[in-house]
Amino acid sequence: MKVDQKEILKELIEISIMISAIPNLNQLLDIVLEKAREITNSDAGSLYLKKNNKLIFLITQNDTLKDIHRQFKSYPINIDKSSIAGYAAFTKKIINIEDVYSLSKEFPFSFNDEFDKKNNYRTKSMLTIPMIDNENEVIGVLQLINSKDENGKITQYSKEIEKIVESFASIAAVSIKNVQLKENIKRAYLETIYRLSVAAEYKDTDTGAHIKRISRYSELLAQKLGFSEEFCELILYSSPLHDIGKLGIPDAILTKPAKLTPEEWVIMKKHTTMGYEILSGSTEKLINFAASIALNHHERYDGTGYPNGKKGEEIPVEGRIVAIADVFDALSTKRPYKDPWPLDKILGEIESQKNRQFDERIVNVFLSNIDEFLKIQNEHRED
Ligand code: C2E
Ligand code: SIN
Ligand code: SIN
Ligand code: FE
Repeated sequence: MKVDQKEILKELIEISIMISAIPNLNQLLDIVLEKAREITNSDAGSLYLKKNNKLIFLITQNDTLKDIHRQFKSYPINIDKSSIAGYAAFTKKIINIEDVYSLSKEFPFSFNDEFDKKNNYRTKSMLTIPMIDNENEVIGVLQLINSKDENGKITQYSKEIEKIVESFASIAAVSIKNVQLKENIKRAYLETIYRLSVAAEYKDTDTGAHIKRISRYSELLAQKLGFSEEFCELILYSSPLHDIGKLGIPDAILTKPAKLTPEEWVIMKKHTTMGYEILSGSTEKLINFAASIALNHHERYDGTGYPNGKKGEEIPVEGRIVAIADVFDALSTKRPYKDPWPLDKILGEIESQKNRQFDERIVNVFLSNIDEFLKIQNEHRED
């Protein structure tokens, strides 16, 4: 165990700055546990997070049993005095045990030796620390196992190390809470976008399944074209808004069960520019990306599309991608004005539109991965 307090304190500050910059929850939890084990020279450790008033056993690391995290399954435990981690969360107290096989009588729980038996491991010393945030709420529990001295011998966790791990745990708690809050906001934000898209779509299609399919087709096309993870996520979440401008189109036109008159068609085509007007000028990347898709998804590669008659690479690639996703979906489903087409006819139509309606490269990627598109179609049928 490290004894130089000043060194440890310095390390603690560095680790804290490092972990506060990690945006991904799973990655953050892994590093928190790893660093806690490093500071305490622990052979093993686990991390629990609080969710719905239970502790969820989320990750475990073990230097002796290197592969243990692979066969690991997450499960919930009660926040009460019946288990060690539950007790720490319930009482907000650190529990420092010299040997879990000879527990002091003061504790109401007993050590569950199932893991040791199954893996032929010997858990001995254990330090269990509630992770308490800046509002004095327990957000999880850190459990460190088998602290080793310089000679590799298992020893009890010292009082000094308890204090250090306690401050580390509260710093980690705040970082974890921040990431959870951000993830909640992101989820709420994406759900809002999705619900808004469905509301716009309700006027001329029966369910939100159309939105789901277009968004998955677009993501898949972007992935197969080799775009970055960020781009693929952007198109996944912004493509649902491609027809948001239809909110401004009269129902009589939108649900007309026949061909549109030239006057109606002029109005219908405005759903692209209306969508763009609704979405453009945002400070959010995702919304601006959606604005571009709304504006460009009916442009055609040969320059005969609308609203601007852009040609080829002038059409932003997200517009070219959603164009194919949109038409594939329109042809394969029923609309107020048309019945679905059989698959071979759809594929023939899309193939024949290379360099006319569509970017040839994207058509090729679509056709050579058609099985995966059909899989998405199957997973998101109209209810
Ligand atoms: P939508 O129904 O979502 O269709 C999206 C796009 O799929 C259409 O864009 C078109 O490119 C393609 N598509 C749909 N059905 C067919 C088809 O039977 N054959 C072919 N080759 N392509 C098809 P488009 O044409 O710019 O239309 C935009 C929107 O205008 C449509 O969205 C729909 O809401 C409306 N619309 C288009 N044509 C008619 C029509 O004849 N009657 C009515 N009531 N609405 C129409
Ligand atoms: C969402 O549900 O958040 C967007 C649509 C999708 O991911 O399918
Ligand atoms: C790419 O596939 O990496 C982008 C090229 C394009 O704009 O189509
Ligand atoms: Fe459209």
